[in-house]
Amino acid sequence: MQSGSIDLLVCGAAEIATPRGVSPLHGRSMAAIEVVRNGAVAVRGERIVDVGPEHELRARYSPRRELDCRGGTLVPGFVDAHTHPVFATTREDEFEMRTAGASYVEIAAAGGGILSTTRGVREASREELARSLCVHLDRFLALGTTTVEAKSGYGLSVADELKCLQAIREARALHAVDVVPTFLGAHDFPAEYRERRGAYVDLVVDEMLPRVASERLAEYCDVFTESIAFSLDDSRRILSRARELGLGLRLHVDQLTPLGGAELAAELRAASADHLEHVSERGIEALRSAQVIPVLCPVVPLFLRQEREAPARRMIDAGLAVAISTDFNPGSCYLQSMPEVISWSALRYRMSAAECLTAATLNAACSLGRGREIGSIEPHKRADLVLLDLPNHRHLAYELGRNPVRAVVARGRVIER
Ligand code: NIG
Ligand code: FE
Repeated sequence: MQSGSIDLLVCGAAEIATPRGVSPLHGRSMAAIEVVRNGAVAVRGERIVDVGPEHELRARYSPRRELDCRGGTLVPGFVDAHTHPVFATTREDEFEMRTAGASYVEIAAAGGGILSTTRGVREASREELARSLCVHLDRFLALGTTTVEAKSGYGLSVADELKCLQAIREARALHAVDVVPTFLGAHDFPAEYRERRGAYVDLVVDEMLPRVASERLAEYCDVFTESIAFSLDDSRRILSRARELGLGLRLHVDQLTPLGGAELAAELRAASADHLEHVSERGIEALRSAQVIPVLCPVVPLFLRQEREAPARRMIDAGLAVAISTDFNPGSCYLQSMPEVISWSALRYRMSAAECLTAATLNAACSLGRGREIGSIEPHKRADLVLLDLPNHRHLAYELGRNPVRAVVARGRVIER
């Protein structure tokens, strides 16, 4: 047992609520979180050294500093495992077109959608993109997110995709939020390749991916596998090359149509399969047997005014380790709040608050290969914590529309709102 001097004692919490372990929690075990009442957390440097009843930790440690939770609830820093935060212009016009009755696919076919964001990104400098990304990261942090996956995917040329990934690298070096970079060159076909799509796939495979890998600009490669974007065969080719180059794999699949993308994610042993509104029973079974983590985006159908939602309850009951995310992007979901995602997952997916907490922390961390490092409040993990102005973790799902975050601890550093 540890003892002695510590840098920080986080004390006075009505409860500490956390999943446990370093691997994803599947099915029913998603609800098996640990709740410590009147608990405290001992932190040394960037690491958690101890968690337990406050009186016990006080007897063991002399803290240099204390953070008094004053009856709030302490949970692990949220991990947002699916975002597209590198953009320069917004699309509130398309939002209004949808509320007036147009569909996402119609708007994209008319030259809006991803390509309208691409026009703005191509005009922006790397510095401008990094600066606006830092503004987004400030907001993520204020909402309790301490790790965020960030995709490129609005550059769609060699130079512009590299520019986006360099902006991510630059912002990451400056910011308290940890950023996991993902290359999404296969997000859409840019205007100049619309009539020669095969040539764009060649460009991604032969030029973009080798540069991304040799300059170590991304940990993951993602593809938008969809009837309006990349086919199963294109996706397989791009992702197989990415894997040869040492990148992990994530996929946008079965979002708008039932293409069988979940089966492809399973075949490729991807780290995650995301969206899944149209996943089939076979797809769910394939994800289960290949142990792929579904990363669901519960607010996207609302934002796109689509009826169809991912069968999250079915996936959990089938024994999958579900994660939840914002999908923050200017087109299909302008949302950065994981507390809001938790409420929506409870209401739309019929997930319990405990399942939501696991999905928003440990399972999301595991989908990013960081289960040993983050995602729970346990000794040896990084001291990434969120102090919530809530009497217990169930209020996280229950309360809508306000930011319940009072303070964040990121790598042991206290950041009060
Ligand atoms: O995850 N589905 C593809 N990509 C994004 C939307 C991108 C956009 O519309 O700008 C998504 O929903
Ligand atoms: Fe997305």
